[in-house]
Amino acid sequence: DGFPATKLFNQGYSYTYDDVIFLPHYIDFPTDAVQLSTNLSRNINLSVPCVASPMDTVTEASMAVSMAALGGIGIIHSNNTASEQSSLIRSAKSHRIPFASNDIRFVSPDDSIASGSVFDTAPCVFVTENGSDSDRKVLGVVDKVNWERLADKEARVSSYMNKNTVTLPNTYKFEDVAGYLAAKELEFVPLVSGDGSVVDVVSKEDVERIRGFPKGGLPSVGEDGEFLVGASIGTRETDKERLEHLVKAGANVIVIDSSQGNSIYQIEMIKYVKKMYPDVDLIGGNVVTMYQAQNLIQAGVDGLRVGMGSGSICTTQEVCAVGRGQATAVYKVSSVAAQSGIPIIADGGISNSGHIVKALTLGASTVMMGSFLAGSTEAPGAYQYQGGQRVKKYRGMGSLEAMTKGSDARYLGDTAKMKIAQGVVGAVADKGSVLKFIPYTMHAVKQGFQDLGASSLQSAHEMLRSGILRLEVRTGAAQVEGGVHGLVSYEKKSF
Ligand code: XMP
Repeated sequence: DGFPATKLFNQGYSYTYDDVIFLPHYIDFPTDAVQLSTNLSRNINLSVPCVASPMDTVTEASMAVSMAALGGIGIIHSNNTASEQSSLIRSAKSHRIPFASNDIRFVSPDDSIASGSVFDTAPCVFVTENGSDSDRKVLGVVDKVNWERLADKEARVSSYMNKNTVTLPNTYKFEDVAGYLAAKELEFVPLVSGDGSVVDVVSKEDVERIRGFPKGGLPSVGEDGEFLVGASIGTRETDKERLEHLVKAGANVIVIDSSQGNSIYQIEMIKYVKKMYPDVDLIGGNVVTMYQAQNLIQAGVDGLRVGMGSGSICTTQEVCAVGRGQATAVYKVSSVAAQSGIPIIADGGISNSGHIVKALTLGASTVMMGSFLAGSTEAPGAYQYQGGQRVKKYRGMGSLEAMTKGSDARYLGDTAKMKIAQGVVGAVADKGSVLKFIPYTMHAVKQGFQDLGASSLQSAHEMLRSGILRLEVRTGAAQVEGGVHGLVSYEKKSF
């Protein structure tokens, strides 16, 4: 019944995730028995197969910390100077506990807090000399209880702020902070660095949420005892200098960022990195064919990033006429990479948990995501309101806007004088914290694996290669049937 993958993917069609569907197999274990632990690259293990893409609207320190806290990893983008990128790595690695996803809000002593809505996302407001996050030395703290008791909401915060709020050093481990909150019956506690600057604020709710992470979802911590953090580079001469800064800052894995990775520039860079920093894992790409993959594997990569033009903001296939449907690309590249023991990252085109199940079953060891993580609390940038909806900007690194800031190396040759966009700028709706929706998504992925009768990624890969798992192509009508259809929206009426 159905087709084995070898037959389905050798018919001359380029399929993407939505084109194909797996046939269910046999269940003989509970959902919780599914293990999603995996390899990002030859020497880096993760307990959750999720990677945040090196894009300037997706991965900076906050995203990297949260992804590592969840058991995945974030790759800090390089659309900045080497020193900016290094300080983002340092900042991410300086966190000891799973990041509290709260906003950290500041006001100056002369300000007033007119509306309590600030306490929806922040457990307290910090009063600092200039009232902005450039000055994080705390003079006092206002919490919701303080504020609610206040008769005159126009009062200056200096007149009622709490000047004796207890703080803890930000080097405290999660369990110590949790124990302190419980023992003192506190709602929240600010964590401060050596000079008294506030770094984080952990609330009772955070403790409950973090404790509720799925079992086995161990944080990604390296041998240095710090969170695993990756960083991207390009293939120019200046990237060699950048690389030195990134390695010094503690980057655990380097990703060479290119839309067509099979080039003399990348191969030379791979050889250079492996010679200079043999202990740092190196991921090459992007590739979509077996030939491209073989060349980069031969050059010495420890992992491969797969995808060309499948990203939600990508226009590469339209502009350059090259690329491949992502399901076919993942299957084809993984079939050569597996022979050399090189894990692959399915990069781009993930918009639901079913896509993750498909990518991982077709041979990927991890999925890299842009739009799925954009719009979250942890994504860089501020929220804004658009047509009544709270959104954050999400842009392709090959969009003119991003290239103007410097990411042209990924999409242009060294000598190109004219910028041709291979990506677009858009916005993504607020989806809350990745600390909440990634564990939920991973649970859905586990259910997919259970339906396939695969209790781990390794067993899914074996079942696919041996032909036990079967797939089919979905017709257009079958795809419509597979989605929500035939409904009008239901509006709750009160009678
Ligand atoms: P998703 O679908 O997760 O895709 O939003 C993220 C991936 O898309 C790639 N990327 C681009 N591709 N033009 C492209 O053709 C671009 O401007 C661009 N920016 C990012 C990248 O691989 C990322 O991980």
